[in-house]
Amino acid sequence: MKYFLILSLLFFGAVVSAQNLDKVENQIDEIIKELTLEEKVKMCHAQSKFSSPGVERLGIPEIWMSDGPHGVRAEIEWDSWSYAGWTNDSCTAFPALTCLAATFNPELARKYGVAIGEEARYRKKDILLGPGVNIYRTPLNGRNFEYMGEDPYLASVMCVPYIQGVQTNGVAACVKHYALNNQEVWRDHINVKVSDRALHEIYLPAFKAAVKEGKVWSIMGAYNKYNGQHTSHHKVLINDILKGDWGFDGVVVTDWGSAHDTQEAALNGLDIEMGTGTDGLTSSKENAYDYYYLAKPFLELLKNGEIDESVVDDKVRRILRLMYRTNMNQTRPLGRKANQQHFDVAREVAQEGVVLLKNKNSFFPLNPETTQTIAVIGENATRMMTIGGGSSELKTVHEISPLEGIKKRFANATITHAMGYSSGPSAYGRVIPSHLSQDSLKRAAIATARQADIVLFVGGLNKNHEQDCENGDRTGLNLPFGQDALLDEIMAVNNNVAVVLVSGNAVAMPWKTKAQAIVQAWYLGSETGHAIADVLSGDVNPSGKLPMTFPVKLEDNGAHAFDPLSYPGDGVDQVYKEDILVGYRWHDTKKIKPLYAFGYGLSYTSFKINSATTVSNSFKADDVVKIKVSVSNTGDVDGAEVVQVYVKDVKSSVMRPAKELKAFKKVKLAAGETKKIELELPVNSFVFYDESINDWKLEKGAYHLLVGTASNQIKKTLKIEVQ
Ligand code: BGC
Repeated sequence: MKYFLILSLLFFGAVVSAQNLDKVENQIDEIIKELTLEEKVKMCHAQSKFSSPGVERLGIPEIWMSDGPHGVRAEIEWDSWSYAGWTNDSCTAFPALTCLAATFNPELARKYGVAIGEEARYRKKDILLGPGVNIYRTPLNGRNFEYMGEDPYLASVMCVPYIQGVQTNGVAACVKHYALNNQEVWRDHINVKVSDRALHEIYLPAFKAAVKEGKVWSIMGAYNKYNGQHTSHHKVLINDILKGDWGFDGVVVTDWGSAHDTQEAALNGLDIEMGTGTDGLTSSKENAYDYYYLAKPFLELLKNGEIDESVVDDKVRRILRLMYRTNMNQTRPLGRKANQQHFDVAREVAQEGVVLLKNKNSFFPLNPETTQTIAVIGENATRMMTIGGGSSELKTVHEISPLEGIKKRFANATITHAMGYSSGPSAYGRVIPSHLSQDSLKRAAIATARQADIVLFVGGLNKNHEQDCENGDRTGLNLPFGQDALLDEIMAVNNNVAVVLVSGNAVAMPWKTKAQAIVQAWYLGSETGHAIADVLSGDVNPSGKLPMTFPVKLEDNGAHAFDPLSYPGDGVDQVYKEDILVGYRWHDTKKIKPLYAFGYGLSYTSFKINSATTVSNSFKADDVVKIKVSVSNTGDVDGAEVVQVYVKDVKSSVMRPAKELKAFKKVKLAAGETKKIELELPVNSFVFYDESINDWKLEKGAYHLLVGTASNQIKKTLKIEVQ
């Protein structure tokens, strides 16, 4: 009898959920009353690698999760990390999130979110494990490619529509990894020490935006510690800030294997424990799930009264709330499997995210009709980049390699190809050297380069261990596998060499002056080769901007300007010594010239910012400054420019960065066209986090609004006063 009562409650609740939140909350209370303590505890931990159990007796469904964040991952076995071998689990591989950030186009983030959410829904996933919004602190971090760059404002603006897009499908996004997971070295135990100011100004804003603006339904903890406590059950991060200050009403999920203590997990806000292995991080034995921190040990503490039942009720309430939003919402759409529209979205994001860094004498675009011989050199010209990298690895329906894309678009040219170097097979957690002769590969590449009109070198990193991959950082800023030396030799036999970098991180470029052109092409997913050829041929005019600073050398990056305690730490602790001066904030404040600046990227046309004006130059705290910017395309092809506004606090009681991004807008302009656009900056975004009052503070006085096209290309300065 009760069973039918609950089932009808579930169904009714789902239908009215949108209109009547109170009713849903009441129904959740009713369900909680029906659950036994054992059933409640069961809902708080995994039953398989990627699912948590429901309560069959009451028709409460299981929750199914999937990585994330660039496509819906192939099915994994119930209780091992092996792929399950299904034949219907191929996906669209969308460009990596660094590329999405480089578009500076929130509308594309929305399209990306909607499309990936549709695939997650079609594949019956309730939680998509993404987006990742950890801040790019060091170019060595093996997972930067899964994140949205070094600027908290950019990452915030870009993650919100992604989340909203995913969740329109009745699939929860799961923003990750909360928080301070800014390196992979020692990720499971390193204890991060950072000032409150840097925490609030740099490392938390994107999570806060995900919660407060994106209304994200779940969040994933991180592996590392912060101030001595693991972040996945951290009192300050979860109870005080996330659930307290920000009012997060969703579910906190561990990272896989990041729970370490029952009391802490129970009391410090963890709701679902995933991935714990009773004998290590990645393997489990029979009944392992019963021994999770939030399983039997939790039940015991509840039974003997050491932990109050209200603690588990709160977790179950959040889990049921997530279910009403996802798998108990009978009205959610059905989703769509990988299809042409999704590939189109992937291609569009890739086209807009590619960044043209150098283009001497208009080397690009290359005319497909008149270009004669192109030597495409480099392993990344043919390597599948959806494979490797760790948990974000994908099984995609197709992946067009750069060579394939170039061959197709430059069908009238003679295309030759040489690998040039070999990295060895992709392996998670290991470096497997190649068995091929590097010397033979190099000699073949030089011979190929010598005979060509143009050389396109397609290199970079490759998602192998220590080359943009989970569970390990890069070991240096230079290109691996002898690419720098190879480039020198190629450039000695051919003057027309352009470099296409496939990576999620900045690299050193000792060969920069000898290259005719340099393109930052990230990891572009299914449509990689098409998008690269679109840009190189001029079918698409590049408009991507760097979401991170490229330093000349590693020590120029703030995290690396100190002793090893700053990076990678001493094995136990780590101190973020550059404090709030992350990325361009460091470079600009310390006057260290970057190789390529944050926000920088070229186009095949030229733009001019003609004027920037505000109606007044005096504002109050709750005003919104509206800046009108007139911008022209002064060249002869259509293109898009990203107008960026940075704020400089002229005189402050505390140290402030030389400038901070507070607004941007991408504007499409036909050749010769002029447009007036408006950017809005709320005055209360000029605040800093004041540690003496543990709160944000806005200081009166003079501010400069710096309007430009990159962090180092400021074209107009508006001087205003805050009263
Ligand atoms: C990663 C997460 C991922 C999870 C599940 C972890 O190792 O850090 O980002 O979502 O595994 O694959």
